[in-house]
Amino acid sequence: MTSSSNRGTGVADETDTQFDLADYLATQQAQVEAALNQSITVVYPDKIYEAMRYSLMAGGKRLRPILCLATCELLGGTTEMAMPTACALEMIHTMSLIHDDLPAMDNDDYRRGKPTNHKVYGEDIAILAGDGLLAYAFEFVAAQTQQVSAERVLQVIARLGHAVGAAGLVGGQVVDLESEGKPDVSLETLNFIHRHKTGALLEASVVCGAILAGADDSNLVRLSRYAQDIGLAFQIVDDVLDITATQEELGKTAGKDLQAQKATYPSFWGIEESRRQAQALVTAAKAQVEPFGDRAKPLQAIADYITARTH
Ligand code: FPP
Ligand code: MG
Repeated sequence: MTSSSNRGTGVADETDTQFDLADYLATQQAQVEAALNQSITVVYPDKIYEAMRYSLMAGGKRLRPILCLATCELLGGTTEMAMPTACALEMIHTMSLIHDDLPAMDNDDYRRGKPTNHKVYGEDIAILAGDGLLAYAFEFVAAQTQQVSAERVLQVIARLGHAVGAAGLVGGQVVDLESEGKPDVSLETLNFIHRHKTGALLEASVVCGAILAGADDSNLVRLSRYAQDIGLAFQIVDDVLDITATQEELGKTAGKDLQAQKATYPSFWGIEESRRQAQALVTAAKAQVEPFGDRAKPLQAIADYITARTH
């Protein structure tokens, strides 16, 4: 998601004139890349650190870290306070993709425009690279967070754990795997899968940024609703792009859902209605953060970007 690739994404004109999302994303992304690059050094046994770095530094939109930083700043916190958690979110997201691509799961060869981790390092090392990133994410938050009370850091760690485990990503992935190839998956089940598999970590990204900045309960609820809405919109758009975008645009195999006979939002609603539903969720998400005034511009522009993105 470079500055130039964001231009022409069709993000709402209204937002463009008041807030330059492309510049904002490019600046935040560069800071996240630099922090991630410093987060893991290759030492003995080199192979595992190289495998962890291979997937962590393979690009990606860095949406979760950027949401965490943006939310912390919205509430008066600083980049420094939120960066270790932002990096941890990307480590967790990356490990979930490494494991998701394994032959035992989605068996994918291509991710973020490159061969998947197990294609390069083998299944054994890919499993361990995922485990290494997951454990290190928690260590990184605990050891590196500064200028934030221990009580808030503990809350962040608890939220992250909840979002990653059986109550979040893992639970969503289980229902996703169980639903594959079944013709009668309900909309309720599809919503469960995505609220957990993708939504939980997106929500944690926003909520952890808010906790680090010392958000009160009413703001936490508001921001959590914003995140849940953009999370679901994100997945609906993902399903649409799986049908409409090319492998080059996506950086991963296109048309996978149909091939794997997965229930998707377009399979319930068709492409046009799916786009409308995603837009309605984005509008609702933006309304949640309206009371923050101009300071909510980054979160509102990110919400718009979700429906306008092409990859
Ligand atoms: C991509 O979904 C996969 C996820 C968002 C998360 C999958 C979760 C796991 C593998 C659990 C990992 C384990 C822990 C401990 C977190 P997708 O297959 O729909 O999207 P894709 O087309 O990008 O592969
Ligand atoms: Mg997959």
